[in-house]
Amino acid sequence: MRHLISPLDFNVEETNSLLDLAEKIITDPSAFKNVCNGKKLATLFYEPSTRTRLSFEAAMLNLGGSVLGFSSADSSSAAKGESVADTIRVISSYADICAMRHPKEGAPMVASQYSRIPVINAGDGGHNHPTQTLTDLLTIKQLKGRLTDLKIGLCGDLKFGRTVHSLISSLSRYEGISFVMISPEELKLPDYIKHEVLEEKGIPYKEVTNLEEVMPDLDVLYMTRVQRERFFNEEDYIRLKDIYILDKKKMAHAGKDMLVMHPLPRVNEITTEVDDDPRAVYFKQAEYGVYVRMALILTLLEMEVQ
Ligand code: NCD
Repeated sequence: MRHLISPLDFNVEETNSLLDLAEKIITDPSAFKNVCNGKKLATLFYEPSTRTRLSFEAAMLNLGGSVLGFSSADSSSAAKGESVADTIRVISSYADICAMRHPKEGAPMVASQYSRIPVINAGDGGHNHPTQTLTDLLTIKQLKGRLTDLKIGLCGDLKFGRTVHSLISSLSRYEGISFVMISPEELKLPDYIKHEVLEEKGIPYKEVTNLEEVMPDLDVLYMTRVQRERFFNEEDYIRLKDIYILDKKKMAHAGKDMLVMHPLPRVNEITTEVDDDPRAVYFKQAEYGVYVRMALILTLLEMEVQ
């Protein structure tokens, strides 16, 4: 039995096959509509979510399966003090697969050690978010036609942004990738990712504070929200929250094919006037999340598709 806890749990070959399957689903979704008949997905969300939870549910429903779950810690027995280990032992007999989001780093990993069904990490604290990464990879592959030879700009909260951590780990395995990290000093990428991923693999990267200056060279600009819920004090959040705002004027610095991505939700970091720019693909990106999660469910449940 397999789980998806870290973005590296699937090697490059397996990641590519999963993306191929997602592309097959995009071309002929109706061929998959009964594949998971009788199967159940449990969504165990101890933290807020819109896209991740609902796209998981939509994915399972599109495959003919059903869904059950909870969408806040308060409405689950966590509020009574139940451990993740006990919860997952029980859920293992109610569902065939589960997706878990938790504010504590490592909680889905602990769950996988006690689980009798595949566990998918749907975001653990400021650590990882592997299914957002699969969504991001599918978006880049579909819209750029490749996952190699790309200069990726990552902008905003690189310290707490789990989507950024997972995307760097996963993309670093492809040829010709380089990164530009755009953040204020306080929100720089954690050292462990710099050392264990980028430096270990010899991936070119630079760290800057000015967004406009680096925009002309980027193939992808990945914007992120300042992660308010991970700050120790509100004053720091208020001081940093509007540090980067991508607007129409700044977009004039970008190449004509640069993609603007964002895992969403957006707060102020991209003005709504950018939404109509053909280079702004964040809503399309959210759409791809359903297909990639369909492919993931099929892969982890080892469902054969004719
Ligand atoms: C992200 C997350 O939860 O980490 N959202 C998502 O799943 N699309 C990004 C964020 O909350 O800023």
